[in-house]
Amino acid sequence: MAWLNWDDLEKQCCQCTKCALSQSRKKVVFGEGNRNASLIFVGEGPGADEDSTGRPFVGRAGQLLTKGIEAIGLKREDVFIANIVKCRPPGNRVPLEEEAQACIPYLRNQVALIKPRIIVCLGATAMKYIIDNNARISEIRGQWIERKGYWLIATFHPAALLRDESKKIPFWQDLKKVKEKINELSAGNLL
Ligand code: URA
Repeated sequence: MAWLNWDDLEKQCCQCTKCALSQSRKKVVFGEGNRNASLIFVGEGPGADEDSTGRPFVGRAGQLLTKGIEAIGLKREDVFIANIVKCRPPGNRVPLEEEAQACIPYLRNQVALIKPRIIVCLGATAMKYIIDNNARISEIRGQWIERKGYWLIATFHPAALLRDESKKIPFWQDLKKVKEKINELSAGNLL
């Protein structure tokens, strides 16, 4: 498949009506950040704050993600932040299979344009569509998988940390692994 360039991709995505989420959204949350990033974070889908601003991870969970990015010595602007679905599922429910399948080509195109070295899946939905349909987040989080030249890792979704304090330490440990991988790849001139 031929990939669209950024302008065409953003235009198509922002006008998308491929699934029912397009009917209830306020704004498409296309994703934002460094389009040459080595590292991308992928969440599940926009919540209320993201739907009204059109920006990913700007609510309470987003603030935690921003802290996590800063804790590994980076800024939000250094990385790219995206979601499996670009429109808010009503009531923040998990995206339906058909919604994720309709939307994921946009993410694939974004990844093809960015060519990151590392993809961090935030939570079970991102893990399911990017790493393994049948895995459990609690079992595979923190483990590196090298696939098609990408280093993939899953960790807990920052929103899960807000509900369950016990997920905080593993989340920070996983981000530390991401930092170590960045260091390792840059030491080998692979970044
Ligand atoms: N949760 C997500 O998965 N993505 C966002 O952009 C915000 C909250």
